[in-house]
Amino acid sequence: MPSEAQPTRASVAGAVRSFYEQLPFNYHESVESSGEAVRANPVAATYPDLHAELSSGRVKHVLELGCGAGWLTNTLASHYGVHVTAVDFTARALARAREIATRLGVAARTRFVESDLFEFADDTRFELVVSIGVLHHTGDTPGGVRHAASFVAPGGGLYLGLYHAPGRRVFLDALQGLAAREGEEAAFALYRTLDRVHQGDPTLLRSWFRDQVLHPHETQHTLREVVAWFEGAGLKLASTSINRFAALPPQAELLALEQTYAERSRRALEVERRYFPGFFTAFGRRAR
Ligand SMILES: C[S@@+](CC[C@H](N)C(=O)[O-])C[C@H]1O[C@@H](n2cnc3c(N)ncnc32)[C@H](O)[C@@H]1O
Repeated sequence: MPSEAQPTRASVAGAVRSFYEQLPFNYHESVESSGEAVRANPVAATYPDLHAELSSGRVKHVLELGCGAGWLTNTLASHYGVHVTAVDFTARALARAREIATRLGVAARTRFVESDLFEFADDTRFELVVSIGVLHHTGDTPGGVRHAASFVAPGGGLYLGLYHAPGRRVFLDALQGLAAREGEEAAFALYRTLDRVHQGDPTLLRSWFRDQVLHPHETQHTLREVVAWFEGAGLKLASTSINRFAALPPQAELLALEQTYAERSRRALEVERRYFPGFFTAFGRRAR
């Protein structure tokens, strides 16, 4: 039997870009409310290891691959005084990101570049490269990690956020299953009972729902894979959300811990009835 054609990086990019041109991810109703969200510094509370790195004084220049509507780039420029080069191929998201930068007075420290991240080239080596929620939408996550790592300076780091396998399965089965059986609005009705963070802004809530449930292309990964990709690119794991950003235990213990993700996901959705997207972060550092 002929097998289904595998999507290519180019076909994935085309579908993903037009998906986000309709409504970018994390897109607020207004520039003002996006600016308020940045002013609250979402990094400090959500990504303590990233906050520590940015507060260390080591980081002056950051590259963000897949910056979307710019919450992270604008947060870094506003709260940590760093210069950020930010790349994304969705023009509508970049337009919003630039408006927020201007509103917050950080336009001079941010450079937004409209490009496919795989085509982005720069001679600068950055003390920090970040890519959160992006590479699993490219059809080539390992290639994306290699490309991102190529911009990391000696002593610098790469901060990645990716969907977790099998931590994401329960959420996808429930929400995408409902969308397939009863339609998008039925799935949205369930989603809005789970996601209690983005309720106040209908555009924002819809943008999260679409991204989480209706996406044209996503893959899921494990810390075990990421550690191998990091090693192949000359990086060593420094911290991860898998053990809640604590000091790293022996690798076997850490990899055993990630096996509990599926059960944590099931409990969150079925018992606690709360949003658990099945997402993890990994921070890799290059030796000096
Ligand atoms: C889920 S959003 C995350 C955006 C941002 N990192 C955030 O946390 O809000 C994924 C973003 O990746 C961008 N993206 C996906 N594939 C890309 C590619 N090949 N080149 C450039 N941008 C890409 C999309 O345009 C979108 O803005």
